[in-house]
Amino acid sequence: MVDKLKKIWLDEALIDWEDANVHILTHSLHYGVGAFEGIRAYKRQDGNTAIFRLNDHIDRLFDTCKLALLAPKVTRDQMMRACVDVLRANDMQEGYLRPMAFIGEGAMGIYVPNNPTRTAVVAWNWGAYLGDEALQNGIRTKISSFARHHINVSLAKAKMMGQYTNSVLAKREAKFAGYDEAILLDTNGYVSEGSGENIFIVKKGVIYTPDLASSILEGITRETVMTLAREEGLTVVETRITRDQLWLADEVFFTGTAAEVTPVREVDNRAIGDGKVGPITRQLQARYFAVVRGNDNSHPEWLTRV
Ligand SMILES: Cc1ncc(COP(=O)(O)O)c(C=O)c1O
Repeated sequence: MVDKLKKIWLDEALIDWEDANVHILTHSLHYGVGAFEGIRAYKRQDGNTAIFRLNDHIDRLFDTCKLALLAPKVTRDQMMRACVDVLRANDMQEGYLRPMAFIGEGAMGIYVPNNPTRTAVVAWNWGAYLGDEALQNGIRTKISSFARHHINVSLAKAKMMGQYTNSVLAKREAKFAGYDEAILLDTNGYVSEGSGENIFIVKKGVIYTPDLASSILEGITRETVMTLAREEGLTVVETRITRDQLWLADEVFFTGTAAEVTPVREVDNRAIGDGKVGPITRQLQARYFAVVRGNDNSHPEWLTRV
């Protein structure tokens, strides 16, 4: 359950939480064309709050709008400002931000060129997405019977609302079967990503992750972790990965704004490595947390102070 806060930003104004409602004829509610983001703000070791990679998330929001032919009335700067304002208005030192652009009411049917594109930013408190235990000891995963969308079926590089039915179905299937998370293959059978995370494997000290031409979201945490890994002197290769490479990996981990760096200790009832969190995963997880909330100030360009 999301704890109620004070204010939500809707159509360029901060309004009371209870008043942030939309009409039942909101087009995106019926047809799923809408853009959204998930961003974290952390209270850092120095006591200051910083939003992590706000610019990049808002760029991706507008990229999704471009791909989905949505035309928000607000600018990137206004959306960024709104994210800061929502945290301040709710006295939040940490939190998860959800900016979105969606098609409002007006006409119904598939083609509605004159319906307004509405924008909102809401924030809530969110701890470890898969739980603290998951961050510490890793999770059990299952390859989904659902494939990731083919690149010409939907928009792999868009964080578009309706596409998440695919994630919800895969996640439910994994949970109902007693696992923590799903891993989706693409329609050619190669490893794609989790229901809301990018995936990495480690084999003989080298890190591999699916390349950007595959059906994956271009994760901002993915890029962060690749940058940090290279800074640590590690080799990262973007390439196709097969299911058996995944099963035989020394280490597997997920990345995502919500999931942060979550170790995977089991895939399809096969222990990954010795079934414990591996050293490279641990090293990158520690570096990630030092950068987002610790005292590692090596990437000031990633931080927006609130
Ligand atoms: C399907 C999917 N893949 C990957 C990610 C990770 O992306 P990011 O690191 O930008 O949060 C997300 C989360 O936004 C996602 O929903």
